[in-house]
Amino acid sequence: MAQYDVVIIGGGPGGYNAAIRAGQLGLSVACVEARKTLGGTCLNVGCIPSKALLHASEMYELARKDFAGMGIKASIDLDLAQMQKQKDDSVGALTKGIEFLFKKNKVEWVKGFGRIAGPGKVAVAAEDGSETVLEARNIVIATGSEPSRLPGVEVDQTRIVDSTGALALNAVPKSMIVIGAGVIGLELGSVWRRLGAEVTVVEYLDRTLPGADAELAQAFQRAMTKQGMVFKLGQKVTGAKASATGVTLSFEPVAGGPAENLTADVVLLAVGRRPTTAGLNLEAVGLATDARGFIATDHFRTAAPGVWAIGDVTHGPMLAHKAEDEAVACIELIAGKAGHVNYDVIPGVVYTYPEVAWVGKSEEELKAAGVSYKIGKFPFTANSRAKVNHEAEGFVKVLADAKTDRILGVHMLGPQVGEMIGEYCVAMEFGAASEDVARTCHPHPTRSEALRQAAMGVEGWTMQA
Ligand code: NAI
Repeated sequence: MAQYDVVIIGGGPGGYNAAIRAGQLGLSVACVEARKTLGGTCLNVGCIPSKALLHASEMYELARKDFAGMGIKASIDLDLAQMQKQKDDSVGALTKGIEFLFKKNKVEWVKGFGRIAGPGKVAVAAEDGSETVLEARNIVIATGSEPSRLPGVEVDQTRIVDSTGALALNAVPKSMIVIGAGVIGLELGSVWRRLGAEVTVVEYLDRTLPGADAELAQAFQRAMTKQGMVFKLGQKVTGAKASATGVTLSFEPVAGGPAENLTADVVLLAVGRRPTTAGLNLEAVGLATDARGFIATDHFRTAAPGVWAIGDVTHGPMLAHKAEDEAVACIELIAGKAGHVNYDVIPGVVYTYPEVAWVGKSEEELKAAGVSYKIGKFPFTANSRAKVNHEAEGFVKVLADAKTDRILGVHMLGPQVGEMIGEYCVAMEFGAASEDVARTCHPHPTRSEALRQAAMGVEGWTMQA
């Protein structure tokens, strides 16, 4: 029986980063993955293909709507097959890249479906029906998550799709209803709206982007509405009927009132994700999931000795970068080092146009915790580079402790703010005060000056407005 220091179940951002880190630290490591390519949901059917379509559709819309104002004349046509192909090419190259990193770091990829067979044992069922048992001093569960379902809304990946189906449509629907105004619904909804679909978003809550700062979410919703997305908030979906020509979705106001039917070519179900544990056989080591299906952990240790869990299958935001950080910290703990994740500095980004990005606490969270804070805010309309680029939508908002000036949260709306939030992540990791950012020289003219100006605003000495 093959023996390893670490056997990781799952080859997504949590699993593959854990595997590579284990290899780097000289541990013998196997990563069990059933999918034909490594990278998990993120690389195969999540973050990466969605960004490929977001970027391509953004360029399409830019060319159609904004080139003329810049003095560029062009005639634009959509080639959806090529747009999908370039997406698939990027995904293919990146998943191969992980295979290369596995080889480089002496990680063995054991292909097949992993199941815990007892303390220190993982059984892997290969596609041909054979089973191999691996012996492991440590088992790391990194099995991720899958789309949540809604009773009465049967996903067929043609008329009623989840995120996987929405990434693979081979024709632009004339109309699309998105159930759920969260990250997936708004990112993928905006892809198909830009390519020509009329998009209506039906959401249970009375707001978009639950969890995000409320002012940020409101500004974001206004931006999406201006682009033509229609929002029906506070609505409870009661069912969906698919036919050869489309889908009829039924919903009614959460607060009570008359039910409504809406018909569209395609319905995208995006009401959250749930942890994947089916078939893992957790019972074999006396483990069970909690009421919401998650595996409870304490510094990545489960209740079973030698069994660890990281990423979406455990508590916390279901984000690839959170899983990656947990992967590194978990393996470092296994190797006897001091692995640590700072959960106060996990950024969130919605890759729409304009983008939404935040890190740290929202105003609502600070109020609920009774923390007094000061606000510095700067609009991109007052930033020269954003203006000359015709990209002046949005703002940067910095929340700093009223007594100590320590940065507690940063919330931004604007083109490419997802690329800019990293500056504040570093600042917060170093325990910076807003004045630290306010007194740091930033290059002119860049959009990054808005980051500094917002920090200057905390003490009321913003200059560029
Ligand atoms: P989400 O939790 O972000 O949003 C789901 C939305 O659906 C919520 O607004 C919720 O109130 C609503 N909802 C729930 N039940 C409903 C119902 N019956 N009728 C109408 N609305 C309902 O989940 P989403 O967008 O599916 O994303 C899943 C996960 O994937 C999230 O944890 C997200 O963070 C992650 N993700 C992150 C991305 C990023 O970082 N850019 C991109 C895509 C996904």
